[in-house]
Amino acid sequence: MIAETISPQELQSIGNLQSLHAFSQRVFQPEPGERLVFGEGPEHARLLLLGEAPGEKEAETGRPFVGNSGRLLNKYLENADIAREEAYLTNVIKVRPPGNRKPKMAEVKEAAPILLRQIELIHPAIIVCLGSIAVHAIVDPKAKITEIRGTWLEKDGIRIMPTYHPSAVFRDENKRELLKQDLFSVATMLNKLG
Ligand code: URA
Repeated sequence: MIAETISPQELQSIGNLQSLHAFSQRVFQPEPGERLVFGEGPEHARLLLLGEAPGEKEAETGRPFVGNSGRLLNKYLENADIAREEAYLTNVIKVRPPGNRKPKMAEVKEAAPILLRQIELIHPAIIVCLGSIAVHAIVDPKAKITEIRGTWLEKDGIRIMPTYHPSAVFRDENKRELLKQDLFSVATMLNKLG
């Protein structure tokens, strides 16, 4: 999925999201006929929603969370009164893993520097980690989502809310309620931070 090694110096010299997008297009290699999904939303959004990797619909359109998971996410965001268009949405991995498989830890580690630079450039007040891959990429590679979800964490001045990925709640009523609850907590924090 990654075509060339990422030079930390070059990455650090990238000063805006457009250039980082172009850089990502050079280093990530989508499957033939598919697109890179870099992310979308306001350049300095206060809220960043971080998923795992694009699915089929996302790789077809080049946009994050536009398939089934995205529809579910939209519903829960609306429920919590969080405006999707005011948030920045992206994934740890910027291209669809072949066959929609879960990204490997080595791939997460490889992709993390681009994500971390993307986060630095956006500088959100809050990040919502949707699922374990997002947590592993920016919080702790060993963290268990079932243990830390719903608890506010803080890293480099950014509040982080780990919660379930929308695809994990499809058939699980309990998880669905917890995801809803966590997004309410995010809405409250957004209001509190002003
Ligand atoms: N699942 C994700 O984690 N991200 C997307 O963009 C779509 C589905």
